[in-house]
Amino acid sequence: MTDNTTDHNKGEGAEGPDRVIGTPSSAEGDRLVASSADPHSEHEGPFPAEETHARPEEMQRKGEKVAAAWFTLAFLGGIIFFVGYFAFSSTEIAEPRIAQYSNVTLGGGLALALFGIGAGMTVWARRVMPHYDVSTPYDELPSSPEEKGSFGDFFMKGAAESGFTKRPLMRRTLLLAMAPLGLAPIVLLRDTGPLPGDTLKHTLWKKGMRMVVEGTEREGEATWIRAEDLGNAPGGMISALPYVQPTEEHPHGLSLNEQAKTVILLIKVGEDEWKPGMTEQQLNWTHDGIVAYSKICTHVGCPAALYEQGTHRILCPCHQSTFDAADGAKVVFGPAHRPLPQLPITVDDEGYLVADGDFSSPVGPTFWDVEKED
Ligand code: FES
Repeated sequence: MTDNTTDHNKGEGAEGPDRVIGTPSSAEGDRLVASSADPHSEHEGPFPAEETHARPEEMQRKGEKVAAAWFTLAFLGGIIFFVGYFAFSSTEIAEPRIAQYSNVTLGGGLALALFGIGAGMTVWARRVMPHYDVSTPYDELPSSPEEKGSFGDFFMKGAAESGFTKRPLMRRTLLLAMAPLGLAPIVLLRDTGPLPGDTLKHTLWKKGMRMVVEGTEREGEATWIRAEDLGNAPGGMISALPYVQPTEEHPHGLSLNEQAKTVILLIKVGEDEWKPGMTEQQLNWTHDGIVAYSKICTHVGCPAALYEQGTHRILCPCHQSTFDAADGAKVVFGPAHRPLPQLPITVDDEGYLVADGDFSSPVGPTFWDVEKED
């Protein structure tokens, strides 16, 4: 179908240019338009279905079979896609050669399915549907109720003319071809992995875990942090991680994911600098003026790595969320709407700073079941 505007297609009595919808007649089309000797003659459209079935019945039947063959091929393409998806497990796919087979079957199957449906529909439109020009005045919007009603009639008649209801073989094979394609996105959801459960709400931090400055441990010798490391003057800040025995796989003891979830800011606040917003419990979670907060911004998870010593404000460089370390890391500016979670801390028998449990709330960006806090 094409849209064009031609003078010879102006409707009778219509003002201004007309919009012409229809397929320009080809030499073959000229021969096939049964209702008129002149392929450019005007029609009042929409046409009753029986008047516009200009294709010879034999051609329509043949077209139906060819379209059905394409749709069947498309169905097979959909099946190949599914077989390719389930035939190779996620562990096998790590092997480049297997990944190649998987890509070929997934891509090839999907391409065949989409191409088959497209080709079948093209045959359907060219061999089964009638071709004619429809001329209608190019009126102002919005449409009147009559126009809306006439569009409804036109749509229903178009459906009748298309052969969709009259040609069961073509209709059924088209629906068959669409079925695997419709299911494909649902199956692919499987790749989003298992539900996270409560893993988003907890980190590795446990009671008694010592902390280190990232990268300071050498050959098993860790430099654990003591309270004195933050000095006696308020304003000191250290970025720290929980200490976990290094392994060959993780020389720093933690995977990158674990580091991202557990990293904290240790900040020293003067005794008279705490703000009234700090609850009794939050003060109990501090040690000798040292407070620990998650370093991961509660907006969308950037490291809130900038610290303003004089005001005890923690700044996230991504979108400028600002948190007040002396006030329970409440948001004082920016798009974050949750304070940075606080890590309860204390010291162990040897004077090293240790965690006294996990964070007060889930770290990082807020997700579906995290309650908003003030
Ligand atoms: S990620 Fe921190 S303000 Fe957006």
